[in-house]
Amino acid sequence: MRRIRDVITEKPWLAWVLFFATLIVVFLVGLFGASIIERRSETQYLFKATKPINPMEPRNQVWGEAFPREWETYQRTLDTTFATKYGGNISIDMLERYPNLVILWAGYAFAKGYNQGRGHMHAIEDVRNSLRTGSPQPATCWTCKSPDVPRVMKKMGVAEFYKQTWTSLGQEITNPIGCADCHDAQTLNLTITRPALVEAFQRQGKDIKKASHQEMRSLVCAQCHVEYYFKGKEEHYLTFPWDQGIVVDSIEKYYDRVNHVDFVHYLSRTPILKAQHPDWEISQMGIHAQRGVTCVDCHMPYMTEGGVKYTNHQIVSPVKYITEACQVCHRQDKETLLKNIYDRQDKIRELLSTAEEVLVHAHIEAKTAWDHGATEEQMKEVMTLIRHAQWRWDFVAASHGASFHAPIECARILATSIQRAEAARGRLAAILTSLGEKLPVQLPDLTTKAKAQAYLGFDMRQFSKEKASFIQSEIPKWDKQAQEREAQFKNR
Ligand code: HEC
Ligand code: HEC
Ligand code: HEC
Ligand code: HEC
Repeated sequence: MRRIRDVITEKPWLAWVLFFATLIVVFLVGLFGASIIERRSETQYLFKATKPINPMEPRNQVWGEAFPREWETYQRTLDTTFATKYGGNISIDMLERYPNLVILWAGYAFAKGYNQGRGHMHAIEDVRNSLRTGSPQPATCWTCKSPDVPRVMKKMGVAEFYKQTWTSLGQEITNPIGCADCHDAQTLNLTITRPALVEAFQRQGKDIKKASHQEMRSLVCAQCHVEYYFKGKEEHYLTFPWDQGIVVDSIEKYYDRVNHVDFVHYLSRTPILKAQHPDWEISQMGIHAQRGVTCVDCHMPYMTEGGVKYTNHQIVSPVKYITEACQVCHRQDKETLLKNIYDRQDKIRELLSTAEEVLVHAHIEAKTAWDHGATEEQMKEVMTLIRHAQWRWDFVAASHGASFHAPIECARILATSIQRAEAARGRLAAILTSLGEKLPVQLPDLTTKAKAQAYLGFDMRQFSKEKASFIQSEIPKWDKQAQEREAQFKNR
């Protein structure tokens, strides 16, 4: 084969042909590149092209007119047609699946019914369903459910908002979690709309306004996906217990210091801490957060459609989008990545179940000790151990996705939970023996939700009757008032 240089020496005009051919190719590549950049900036261009959105506009469909791709994908959070191994995405009856939970929560409404969460667009419907049970609740329960919350807070003041009852704001708060919860209407920048997060930062001497764009891609979620409590019997002031740190041990110390109790256990009489959903706190202990990967990277991956890059607003289990959510950073195939997720979840589930088992024993043995005349003094240390064991178990159990987000931290927390529950049982064995009781204490049949509830003496038929009558009559009224309010907006 002859070399190119030899050919060119023979036919010098060929060099010019090659030169111009290269020129044309470079020009075409340039044109193509420019067109991609133009399409990319189309999303930015859209912000300016559409009519302005009012500050605090709570209606997602109004934003949706300006940003159809984001709105269309956001509405898919309604989709419950797929489920992952541990109930990701769909709402499942957790008591049916894990009847031991009925015993652990004896004394709390969750022992009667507890469903795992689902997508954002279901938020209003689901909180209405769960609070229909009749017990009066403060308006604070609305805080993480709707973009109407910052709007009403601005109108009446934050402290005043928390002091209201849940029912008194029922007709104001009707739009499910949406655009105005995370975006500034004028600039579309990510923004923090919930005062509790801003205040928690302030108490630690930090200014959340100084957070980087990357940090904001997790902090918008930390407005709601965190541990919190209602401070004050009258005030119900939503507060994050982070003053001594965000790890489970520091929050435990905080709650012990302020003497916080969510409910007194029906069997063991322990003052129990109920964990909410410390998703952000636990995930900060994981390798992804520590490498700067944000919630949004996995739960709202970039998509491309006709050359336009946009953020997928179907906030959901990333199992739905392994390609977009994981394979942008990892080279492994889908099956391997899915196996990585499930492996971690399986192992942490094993530890969770062990902790649940030991805690059920501890509560029932404590009840037996009380029944046989154990004294407050004898039981003090036992109750502290049970309180801490259950808090640690619940911190992991209630944090959705934790077993993937930070598996090592979950294993550490559960190991300390099991250790404390076993230590309580050790003390209980001594107390029971001193009271002349035979060991081991026999457990009742707790193999189904119904059996566990029957053991506690709940009559679920009576309960559903209460549920049917209360508020049921209120909700259509709220919907009607909301429609009227909407009509007023339109007429303006
Ligand atoms: C590296 C990827 C990744 C990051 C970063 C990440 N998650 Fe997750 N998340 C997952 C996976 C995987 C699951 C498990 C999904 C399943 O079980 O179907 C999950 C589960 C969840 C769930 C439960 C979802 C369900 O459908 O049950 C929630 C809620 C959640 N994550 C919130 C967050 C929040 C909030 C952050 C940031 C503080 C975050 N995640 C960061 C990958 C991630
Ligand atoms: C205004 C409060 C709020 C904000 C902000 C928020 N969430 Fe949620 N999120 C919720 C609530 C409440 C639910 C449960 C809704 C239900 O079950 O009806 C939920 C559900 C979810 C689920 C589905 C959980 C399941 O079990 O199927 C995922 C995943 C999730 N959120 C991730 C995120 C991520 C990621 C962010 C940040 C980009 C975020 N959320 C921001 C309140 C919020
Ligand atoms: C839970 C928080 C959250 C909610 C709710 C939310 N967004 Fe976003 N949105 C984000 C995040 C995070 C980004 C990525 C921003 C970034 O990194 O700069 C984003 C990006 C955007 C962008 C920029 C273009 C793009 O796709 O990346 C638009 C436009 C947008 N959202 C519109 C909406 C609309 C419309 C709604 C309501 C239907 C909405 N968002 C609801 C968090 C949210
Ligand atoms: C933005 C990049 C990024 C995304 C998105 C991402 N990862 Fe990672 N992942 C990392 C980095 C960085 C590490 C830490 C290892 C390292 O530094 O090499 C890691 C570590 C891991 C590990 C090992 C963690 C351990 O337990 O030791 C697994 C498993 C993993 N990722 C799975 C996933 C899955 C599944 C998804 C999608 C749901 C995902 N990752 C999304 C960057 C990413």
